[in-house]
This record gives sequence, structure tokens and C-alpha cells, in this order.
Amino acid sequence: EAAEKGGYEHFMIKEIYEQPKAVRETMTSRVAKDDSGITFDELKWTKDDVAGIKKIAVVACGTAYHAGIVGKYLIENLARIPVEVDVASEFRYRSPLVDDQTLAIVISQSGETLDTLAALKEAKNLGARTLAITNVVGSSIAREADQVIYTWAGPEIAVASTKAYTTQLVVMAMLATYMGAIKGTLAQEKVSELCNALRELPNQVHELLEDVEPIKTFAQQYGFNEDVFFIGRSLDYAVALEGSLKLKEISYIHAEAYAAGELKHGTLALIIEGVPVIALATQHDVYEKTLSNIKEVKARDAVVIGIGLKGDKQIEKYVDHTIFIPATNKFLTPILSVIPLQLLAYYAAVTRGCDVDKPRNLAKSVTVE
Ligand code: G6P
Repeated sequence: EAAEKGGYEHFMIKEIYEQPKAVRETMTSRVAKDDSGITFDELKWTKDDVAGIKKIAVVACGTAYHAGIVGKYLIENLARIPVEVDVASEFRYRSPLVDDQTLAIVISQSGETLDTLAALKEAKNLGARTLAITNVVGSSIAREADQVIYTWAGPEIAVASTKAYTTQLVVMAMLATYMGAIKGTLAQEKVSELCNALRELPNQVHELLEDVEPIKTFAQQYGFNEDVFFIGRSLDYAVALEGSLKLKEISYIHAEAYAAGELKHGTLALIIEGVPVIALATQHDVYEKTLSNIKEVKARDAVVIGIGLKGDKQIEKYVDHTIFIPATNKFLTPILSVIPLQLLAYYAAVTRGCDVDKPRNLAKSVTVE
């Protein structure tokens, strides 16, 4: 096992560090080197194929579900197709409105999650076209779906998913761009901008992984708190959900993610002196609003760690600590902003002496209901 860890202490940290490579592999032969567009040899959709999709139903569990939430935002914005996202165990039992004009997208690292597989079968029975996004070639979900996009992240061993998530996000960004380009909702100039920004990602992820000391220090400083909150708006909220899941699953710290604008409807009651709040503020269109939410928690003496874009001169005035991520296209920020959150979860779990790769009560792949 030591050999498999390649010199790292845990599979999770090894897999975190494999992300520049994994993200690059996911894009290989899909993002054109001249930024002209995205190709999916496994799909080859025509204008009629895309025009025939009136609705998309994304279904997944756990971290893959969080990738689906990002996917909804990207597909609705870039391809202008309505998307709903469900956890698989809910989808099956809520009599979903799915028909032959629906594309069901199931996301699953392992391709074996029973609830996701059952949801896929249900969507097929209802007449939907089905597309699987998975990491495991020949898995049950890959075999069941009409079409498959592989994430090519390489084997993921740690229970807490890292490189599978970032590569799922890359697939979602490519798919949204691909559909937007075919449908014509996305101008060529925007397609090129997105392709260019996608191709920058592996180096930017690498850059983030070069500077982990401050994150290690935060984890040691706040790792013994009982509660941690994650806040953000729009895509930052989706990432907050994943950051919170990562922290709770491996460090057993009670973590909650909140849409920053929703704080005042309940969670603010829990914000007292010294409670750590991780505030993501990478989205320009809601930046000022997020800052005012940060002020709300600061006014209650929370300790705020802000996640901002490099070049943001304002954020440091309002938070206690800041982690900067490289600037990128606004639709791609989740692929970068999740990296410090993965590291924070990892170092918090190490600080607390937890079994990082095999957290209590959890399994890598859940093949029972
Ligand atoms: C389990 C794992 C999670 C994973 C989820 C879905 O709960 O511990 O890390 O996100 O299953 O797994 P899948 O293989 O379908 O992506």
C-alpha cells in the first residue's frame, strides 16, 4: 500500500496532488488546442439532437451531486436549457416529470452507486435519453446509459472524492460549452474564451498546490472547533456545499454550507464569537452582496477565512485571513476554489488524528440502498 501511495502519507493527498494531471487528461482531445471549440467523439450531437432536449435532469449522490449543481448553473447559463438536479435517492421516489424530450445525466465516480443506477433505469423507463458521466470504464452505470463521457481521472481510492469531483466539473464545463456552441446560444468568441480558460486550469491548479502552508496553519488553528460554516452565492454556494461535505466526512467537524443570502433566515443565530466561517467571494455579479454577508458574520465576531480572486484588493479589509485563487473565467472558478477547501479538510482531519482515507461509517461506493 505504501508503494501505491507514491510517497504520500494518504491516498487523499496523493489524489489532491494528481489533479493538475487529471484535469488535463479530462480535456485531452476534447478542448481544441486552437481554442476553436469542444469535441466529444463519444457524443457527436447535431443541432437537432441538442434542439430536441427540452429539459435536463441531473441525478447523482454525494460529491457527484455537488458537481451536478455546478452543472445546472453552467448548462442553464451557457446553453439555456432548463436543468433540475436531484439526489438519486429522492429522484426515484418523487414521480419525476421525465419524458422523451428529457436528457437524464447521471454522474458517478464509481459508476456503481445503487441509487444512481436505479435512477438511471427509472429515467430510461420514462423514455429519457441518458448520458452517464463516470470515471470507471465498463461500470454498471456506463453500461446502462445510452451514452458515456469518461472523466479519465485515474483510480480514486480515498473515500473522500477530490480528483473525481474536479474532473466532473471540467466535463460539465465542456458539455455546457459544447451544447451552447451547437445550439447557438454561445457566440464563437465566448466559446474560445472558455476553451482558453479551460486549458489554463492544470497550471492554475498546480499553482494552488504549491502554496499549502497557510492552509495547513488554518487547519491547525481552527481544527478543534466543533462547528464550521461555509457561505457563498451562486457558483460559490455550490462549492461551499462541497467544501462542507469534505470537511465533515473526514474530520467529523460539524460543517454547514449556506447560501450567503439565506443566513439571516436562520443560521445567523448560530454565529457567535470565534466560529470559523469560510466565505467564498469569487463571483463578480454578486460580490458586493457577498461582502455585506461577510460583514454580517464579522459583526457577530466570527473568524472569517475569505476565498477571493487574485487581484481582489477589497476582501482582505473584511476578513481575518484570505486565500487567493488564480483569476479565471467566472464559470470555471469552482474548479479552483474547491482546491483550498479540499486541503483544509485534509489538514483538519490530519490535525485531529482521523483516519483520512477511510472515515468511519462511510464507503467509497455505496451499492446498497
Ligand atoms: C459515497 C462516497 C462519496 C461519493 C458518493 C457517490 O458516499 O463516499 O465520496 O461522492 O458515494 O459516489 P459515486 O461513485 O456515485 O460518485
